[in-house]
Amino acid sequence: MSTSAILGLQWGDEGKGKLVDALCAEHDFCVRFQGGGNAGHTVYPGGQKIVLHHLPTGVLHSGCTNVLGSGMVIDPIRLIDEIDEVEGRGFKLKDRLIISDRASITTPLHLLLDSGREEGGGKIGTTKRGIGPTYADRYDRIAVRACDLIDKTSLKEALERARAVRASQINKPPTVSDMLPALLKAGERLKPYIADAALVLCEAVKENKRILYEGAQGAMLDIAYGTYPFVTSSHTLTGGIPAGIGSWTDVKRVIGVSKAYCTRVGEGPFPTELPKAEGDRLREKGGEYGATTGRPRRVGWIDLFALRYICKIAGVTEIAITKLDVLSGLGDLKVGVGYEGYAHPGLPADIRAFSALKPTYKALPGWKDNISAVRKPEDLPAAARSYLRFVEEFVGVRIGLISVGPERDAAFVVRGAPKG
Ligand code: IMP
Repeated sequence: MSTSAILGLQWGDEGKGKLVDALCAEHDFCVRFQGGGNAGHTVYPGGQKIVLHHLPTGVLHSGCTNVLGSGMVIDPIRLIDEIDEVEGRGFKLKDRLIISDRASITTPLHLLLDSGREEGGGKIGTTKRGIGPTYADRYDRIAVRACDLIDKTSLKEALERARAVRASQINKPPTVSDMLPALLKAGERLKPYIADAALVLCEAVKENKRILYEGAQGAMLDIAYGTYPFVTSSHTLTGGIPAGIGSWTDVKRVIGVSKAYCTRVGEGPFPTELPKAEGDRLREKGGEYGATTGRPRRVGWIDLFALRYICKIAGVTEIAITKLDVLSGLGDLKVGVGYEGYAHPGLPADIRAFSALKPTYKALPGWKDNISAVRKPEDLPAAARSYLRFVEEFVGVRIGLISVGPERDAAFVVRGAPKG
């Protein structure tokens, strides 16, 4: 199959980076279509940890061309830091990186707007990377775009346009002359990479190149289908791909990634969240601290009802379960299978109704054995196999991959249902 996508099925941090890394080896292109520096995809090439924020994970594979699609918002200063870090580790990006000339640019105005909003009322718990305000400017038609970075007059005009609208919302807004030199310098550095990414991808599709779309954040953070307003500002679901790359594409394989349990950072409802003491144990065991902000993540049981809904609307063709090893030794396990008195097949759109959901659980036996060295489904303990089978049957989508540790090789493919 020539086109695949990897998407988070929860509130981000499902371990997508590692799976994308594994799949990049068999793809010619790795493409980000939404989000920006809010993402934190952690990968361990050669055993050394690296966290990618803007750059597609394919940068770690010499045979992979990497695209930052027009659906992204890009902080050029941070992107250059990332490029330097990746190249410093020996992964050269010459002729392997394309930045859409239509992607929106995060400026100091957006960073200040984001932190100002977070510190004022109506906290969302954002990463403070300027994501929401940059997307807001795009739709308000006052954005700075990547193409502006490489032309002084265009950049100056774009900054003036944005500043005229946003300055009154910021305490001590920077002037255009404060912002211009650093952004121009960034533009000079990024110029060789800025191009019409939609055209490049159309050609790639025509030539039957193998393309991997790398989702960031997760389905429950989708701007339309997530727990609005406690969401990110982009379309994290499959529907975000065509708009975020600028051309039509038919994605054959949609891999939805879910932890064997569930986590969330930031504010907003999380029906299956564990009370503090129980949550602490799982958080420590799973090392659940944000890759971008270092914030402790909220933790809870997997919510299969939500997963089933998301898989349906995202057209997920297979599920990847990550961090199964973290559940070892926890005793009996629970999985969310619905909500008290709630008969609707989908999730509520209204945040008050969503926040009022009280989960109902199915208890499943746990297992004691350390499974981090397991590389075949049949070598998993019987209780782990039944756990996975329950997930698969409830959600109605097959589990195709299982990950049992952070290392590149600590994952395996499952063909059909895990046998009990
Ligand atoms: P923003 O994307 O920084 O505007 O943050 C909006 C919400 O999305 C907040 O709850 C963030 O914690 C969450 N979020 C953004 N990016 C990620 C991510 O990569 N992983 C997990 N949560 C994220």
